[in-house]
Amino acid sequence: MQVTINPSPKLDKTENLFVIVAQGDTKPALNLPTAIRTNITKVLSSKVFGGRLHETVSIVASGPSKITLYGIGPKKDLSQRLVRQAIFRIAGVSHRNRDRSIAVLLPYGLPKFSAADSVLWLADHLGQADYRFDKYITQKEENKGILIRCTVVAPKSVKASDATALSAKARILSNAVQTVRDMGNAPGNEMTPEEIGKRAMALGKTAGFSVKVFDKKQITKMKMGGLLAVNQGSEKEPRFIVMEHNPKGAKKTVCVVGKGITFDSGGISIKPSERMEEMKFDMCGAAAVLGILEASARLGIRHRVVGIVAATENLPSGSAYKPGDIITTMSGKTVEVVNTDAEGRMILSDALHYASGLKPDHLIDFATLTGACVIALGGEASGLFSNNDSLARKLVAAGEESGERLWRLPEWDEYKDYIRSEWADMKNSAGRWAGAITAAVFLKEFVDCPSWAHIDIAGTAWSESGSRIERKGASGVGVRATIRFLEGLE
Ligand code: BES
Ligand code: MN
Ligand code: ZN
Repeated sequence: MQVTINPSPKLDKTENLFVIVAQGDTKPALNLPTAIRTNITKVLSSKVFGGRLHETVSIVASGPSKITLYGIGPKKDLSQRLVRQAIFRIAGVSHRNRDRSIAVLLPYGLPKFSAADSVLWLADHLGQADYRFDKYITQKEENKGILIRCTVVAPKSVKASDATALSAKARILSNAVQTVRDMGNAPGNEMTPEEIGKRAMALGKTAGFSVKVFDKKQITKMKMGGLLAVNQGSEKEPRFIVMEHNPKGAKKTVCVVGKGITFDSGGISIKPSERMEEMKFDMCGAAAVLGILEASARLGIRHRVVGIVAATENLPSGSAYKPGDIITTMSGKTVEVVNTDAEGRMILSDALHYASGLKPDHLIDFATLTGACVIALGGEASGLFSNNDSLARKLVAAGEESGERLWRLPEWDEYKDYIRSEWADMKNSAGRWAGAITAAVFLKEFVDCPSWAHIDIAGTAWSESGSRIERKGASGVGVRATIRFLEGLE
């Protein structure tokens, strides 16, 4: 959807005006022309519509040709989650009705949000509400690719000039989230390590950040043993990508690192074939990093943001790395491979060591790292691990405010015992217990930064069958929380 925020829109060309109303609210503050408002208040006082959650009623009107009242339940329960469910459904209705021009009015501010922040949030999420990845669908649906124009009706307190700036900002955020979703949803035969490098280059040019892509020869020279070990089984070259948004007078340096496994078969420790196709999403950490750089550059974030991506496939072959192999990583530390399916931490060991060398103020990595994290939290929150309480608190808050929940788990030294190896400095997998934590503790061995956070997005990076707020496929998680964190950083 192409979304614009407007405190005094003309609605005569609008095909459907959606008004989100709380249960029992017969007199919401509606910033609308009198005729339309009268129409709506009539319905609200008629008891035809009660405003229960997801209850709707549509009326034929003039001005907008339809008006749809959308119930959101009791006002005291109003939350970002419920509003996202509502706008996801609103987008579905509009798509099915083939409306090309809609308007949305939420007469309430979101909890803890200013009026301006509320409409910005609404516009950002509406921008993604009708997202679908259909580039490979050749049987064209009649309403495929219809661009819905959407006006968010802002309250009077938002000035017209501010609305323009807010619209632009919402579009930047929404587009960056779409970058991540498009990359994640692209199949493994398209989204190769080389392709991630190309996308980074292209994005750097259009959004305005610098990009360096290292090929296998340079990766070998840098002695990135972890990345090279995982890449051994693949016919495709690996890539190591460094992106940089470096504004004048930058205050802090924040490094964001992403896992870019473009397909994870498990390697020699091969995965069961059921649902293995989902392992094309194993590069969603890398995609999030590209999206974060895109948004940082376009929004002019006032910090230096360095994005780092390690990318390769994980496949079995005659040359693949094997259980029992001992790998020397870039840091010099050695790792006994006991499971080739614990490949994410192998490539991140080099990426985190490289990132630590830049001496950032904060270092944050995103990775679809463990099935154990999905067992623990499902799809409702990403796992958060950190060596710094203050950073962890800020990230949890940023996640809460942006609708990307984070839940902290420990990374205590006691867990180091779990990955002790007889033959090398550590092994790459400990049995079943505390799988998400032992992965984080492994990563920590390669971090030299007092303010580091690891975010395990295995459960949140994609939705396996669609959810209340998004279609099946990549979610674009990572961008909104990180941008919120960067904006709040002193
Ligand atoms: N990419 C997977 C983690 C994953 C699994 C993400 C399912 C989302 C859904 C990762 O590389 C992996 O295979 N992890 C193993 C680690 C184990 C071998 C120690 C896992 O979680 O089983
Ligand atoms: Mn794996
Ligand atoms: Zn993986």
